[in-house]
Amino acid sequence: MMWYGDRFKLHGLFSVRLCQEVSGMRRISVYSLKPGHLVARPVYNSSGQVLLQCGARVSKRYIDRLLEMGVFTLYIEDDFSADIKPEDIISDELRMRSNLLIKNLFSRQKAGHARGQTSAEMARITAVVNDIIDELLANRSTMINLMDIRAHDDYLFGHSVNVCVLAVLTGIALHFSRTKLFHLAMGSLLHDIGITRLDRGIGGRKRELTAEERRQFEMHPLYGYEILSRDLHTGKLCAIIALQHHERYSGHGYPKGLQQDEIHEMAAITGLADMYDELTSAVIQQRVLPPNEVYEMISGAGDSLFAFNLVKAFLTNITPYPVGTLVKLNTGETAIVIENNKGLPLYPKIRVLCHEDGRLLKEPVELWLPEDRTKTIVAVVENLPGQEAG
Ligand SMILES: [Fe+2]
Repeated sequence: MMWYGDRFKLHGLFSVRLCQEVSGMRRISVYSLKPGHLVARPVYNSSGQVLLQCGARVSKRYIDRLLEMGVFTLYIEDDFSADIKPEDIISDELRMRSNLLIKNLFSRQKAGHARGQTSAEMARITAVVNDIIDELLANRSTMINLMDIRAHDDYLFGHSVNVCVLAVLTGIALHFSRTKLFHLAMGSLLHDIGITRLDRGIGGRKRELTAEERRQFEMHPLYGYEILSRDLHTGKLCAIIALQHHERYSGHGYPKGLQQDEIHEMAAITGLADMYDELTSAVIQQRVLPPNEVYEMISGAGDSLFAFNLVKAFLTNITPYPVGTLVKLNTGETAIVIENNKGLPLYPKIRVLCHEDGRLLKEPVELWLPEDRTKTIVAVVENLPGQEAG
């Protein structure tokens, strides 16, 4: 088992070790991990280095190290998830290439080298934005089933890429033209670039901010606007997305307290994607919210935090029960989600694993929930009965 190193070249831009074969897996809170669990999806840093590789057996020391690094979820493989293979909506290669470009751009910005920004670097970012759009257009029937796992220090880069992916998916659901998708993708990818102007302690948000620090943090959309319009020349629309991504429909956002139609649609979509990613990544809150709770929170945000039509479009790509989620049924049985239906997010295909008394079924039963109206999901659980974290 290795924490660092063990790499091979990928596209010449960075090095990374990928699992030779995608393992079956399910996502679990690090707090529920137990020594002996098998890692099913590697944890990378933004440079493409493997922090914890696939196939590794978790030990107490690694659980402590994951928490220290701000990694709060992990994909594991066990007997009943071995054949469950949720697919990422963009390729590992593209996700890592995007992460690395953003890391380089933000690092140069932080170091004050903005004016030395080469057109080659912006050309690579433009290329990556187009690749993200292409992959998402090609995968439009897929829902978000996989989350990337990030260490706290790499949060901002992975977050930027994820917000871009979620925003573009929403733009596709709203039938945006290719040109509109490009502006949305570029603006959402760079929406938090203003954070590079903040002190690390404030921008990193590893702790509760004081009122003064909060005031400084809330300047980052204005800084982002300045950087994008003045230094990087990405175009007005991209700068407006950065400027308005924390404005809220109700008027309770910042920096200007804009409301409803005063907020550009693309900035609102980016804000929605930003909120979802923050809630699901567990890095900022340092606790894991089950995906169904995040889904409910977003569902309730229509015409309060964001325009209803945007929330509706956003939710077409999100599932409260991603593939690999363990669920409790109204019958008391425990099941695992094995497939999702894009039109019916509350009714996935499940495999019933345990009877209501916790005994394992001799032969697991698979069914689409709409086909059996007597069964509904009542909760997301982390472990099978009798295997709860102690
Ligand atoms: Fe932000």
